Order: sequence, then structure tokens, then C-alpha cells
Amino acid sequence: MLKLGIIGTNWITEQFIDAVLETKEWQLTSIYSRTLPKAKAFAEKFTDKAEYFTELDKFFAEGNFEVVYIASPNSLHFEQSRAAILAGKHVIVEKPACSNPQEMRQIIKLLRQNRGVCYFEAARHLHERNFKMLKQQIKEMDVIQGASLTYMKYSSRYESFLAGNEPNIFSPHFSGGALQDLGVYLVYNAVSWFGVPDEVNYYPTKLRNGIDGKGTAVLRYTDYQVVLTCGKTANSYLTSEVYGLKETLIMDNAAELKKITLLDGQGNQRDLTQEVDRNPMLSEVQDFTSVLKDPTSLDSKQQMDDWLAIAIQVNRVLYDLRMSADLYFDADSKHLV
Ligand SMILES: NC(=O)c1ccc[n+]([C@@H]2O[C@H](COP(=O)([O-])OP(=O)(O)OC[C@H]3O[C@@H](n4cnc5c(N)ncnc54)[C@H](OP(=O)(O)O)[C@@H]3O)[C@@H](O)[C@H]2O)c1
Repeated sequence: MLKLGIIGTNWITEQFIDAVLETKEWQLTSIYSRTLPKAKAFAEKFTDKAEYFTELDKFFAEGNFEVVYIASPNSLHFEQSRAAILAGKHVIVEKPACSNPQEMRQIIKLLRQNRGVCYFEAARHLHERNFKMLKQQIKEMDVIQGASLTYMKYSSRYESFLAGNEPNIFSPHFSGGALQDLGVYLVYNAVSWFGVPDEVNYYPTKLRNGIDGKGTAVLRYTDYQVVLTCGKTANSYLTSEVYGLKETLIMDNAAELKKITLLDGQGNQRDLTQEVDRNPMLSEVQDFTSVLKDPTSLDSKQQMDDWLAIAIQVNRVLYDLRMSADLYFDADSKHLV
């Protein structure tokens, strides 16, 4: 059994734990929260045997776990991952794993110095059947003429922002904003399916504190453009599309990927949808579990290298997009030397 420690006690951690328990290969052992009552209330939903910590140093030094799942506000991911790697714990960190390439470089350096540690960015949809199927379909296209990918969902936390507060996800202090939160899915799609773009530009709608509430990104490739639309202050019901010569791949939602259709441009359409899991985190958990059970095998090493390579590229594209729009985080200045 893999022993799990968690940081962050919001609904996403519950969904992750549901997925790991579904595999029957994991045990929740250790909970970190800033407050003890919250840690206990969270753990009680799953187990009566967990240990609790309110100090991060003690959590990593004394916690009886091998893998930590980090689902804290974005700006904390780097320091918490760093502490985990130094303590010899495997890391599954929510997307976006790092706020900028400076942080990513430091993580890579630490991983080189701590070769036994596995590190995964939890880019959920990358592991789903529909994502992998789309990647294969796009690879087989004779001609690609670009794509338009959309993920825009009104955030319940926008109410709080409008009321004058600054929730973490709308804060440059916590590396928030639409691009980091939802745009990251679209950047993963673009980089996985089309490669690293030659040039990128982001056109955000900035809110009163300078953070992007929504925005459109243009990724320029040699022969075509990919347009990304992300947002947390409005809802979009647009489908997303990838353009071949006559054929078009249509997905109901570029990040949730529940229905995929191929239109051949001659009046025919084919439903390509693959089975969708009840828990959207199950596919990534299954992938990470098989690597963690046999981390030294060649297959596992190759998988980790491939996932890390794309995480590095996505991190770079997100940063370049932000820089094109003068969008800065507190985390950026921390790393300036
Ligand atoms: N993969 C997905 O589908 C998915 C979906 C949603 C979110 N996410 C990712 O999950 C991460 C967490 O998102 P979220 O919306 O749950 O964030 P959040 O509510 O702002 O914070 C998550 C947890 O971090 C702790 N926390 C909150 N504010 C903090 C602060 N100021 N300082 C230290 N700790 C703090 C809290 O735990 P305690 O109070 O117990 O300390 C909280 O439960 C993000 O990186 C997000 O991108 C992924």
C-alpha cells in the first residue's frame, strides 16, 4: 500500500482521495492543515487512523507517508514541493506546479540531486482516454490548420472579489488568474498536440488588482495559429475545434473532454468519445500509481521524463504568455537575482 500525506483540505483533495481509494492501492495516513480542527474534520470523512500536523516542517520530518499530494494555493506549490523532495517524499502537485521557469529550474535541480524522488504535476486531463485519443487523431491528420480551444467558467469566488475581497485564485500574491487556473489546461492541450509554439501573445481582461479575469491567447506555429480562450468571470458554452483540411475535430469542452466528434466535411460525422470515468482524477491516479509501484523500471522512468518534459514546456509557455501581457506575480520578484 502507498501511504499518502496531503496538503490542502478543499474539495479537490477529497476528489483526489476518492480516486486513490478506488484503486485499492493507497492508504491516507497524514494530514497537514493550518488548523487542527480542520485537519480532523477532513480526515474523518475517510479514516479514523490518520495523523495530523499543523506545522509543515514536522509533517515532512515525522509524517508516516511516502507520497504527498499538494493542493494548496498556486504560489505555495514550489516551497512545499521543495520541502517534500528534500525530505525524500514523492510529490504529486496540483497544476500549475510552479509559478515561473525560475522555480521550475530549481525543482529540476533538486530532482537531479534526489534521484529516488518521483515528481508529478497533476495535469488531470492529460491522462484521460479522450485526451490520448485526440492526440493520436491529430498526429494522424495529413494537414493541420490550427485550433480554437475554450475553457471559461464563472467562479463562485468572483462574487467575493466583486465584494471587495481578494480570494487566492484572483490574487497575484497567490499566482492566480484565469490563465494559470484554467488556461493551463488549454496550454497543455496545445503543447501536447501541436508542440511548443514559435511565438505567443496573451490579451487579458485585467481586474482591479491587475490579475486576469479572462483572456485570449494566440499561439503561433509555423503554418497555423492556435487560439485559446480562458476565463473565470464569465461562462462559455462554445465547443473547441481542431482544423484539418476538410475534417474538423470537435470537443464539447477542451478541458473536460466528455464528447468528441469528427466531422469529415462531406456530411459525415463519427462519435470518437471514449469511456469517461466517474471521478475525473482516476486516470492520472492510475498512471501515477503504476509508476510509484515500480519507480525504477525503464517504463516508469520514461513516463516520468515525458510528463516532466511537457510540464517544463507548459510552464515556459504560461510564463511567456504572462510576460507578453505584463502580468506579474509576487513569486516572480522572489526569484530575481
Ligand atoms: N485538477 C483539478 O481539477 C483542480 C480543481 C481545482 C483546483 N485545483 C488546484 O488545486 C489547488 C488548490 O486549489 P483550491 O481552489 O482548493 O485553493 P484554495 O481553496 O485557495 O486553498 C486550498 C487549501 O490550501 C490551504 N490554504 C488556503 N489559503 C491558504 C493560505 N493563505 N496559506 C496557506 N494555505 C492556504 C487550505 O487548507 P487548510 O486550511 O487546511 O490549510 C485550503 O483548503 C490549486 O493549485 C488549483 O489549481 C485543481
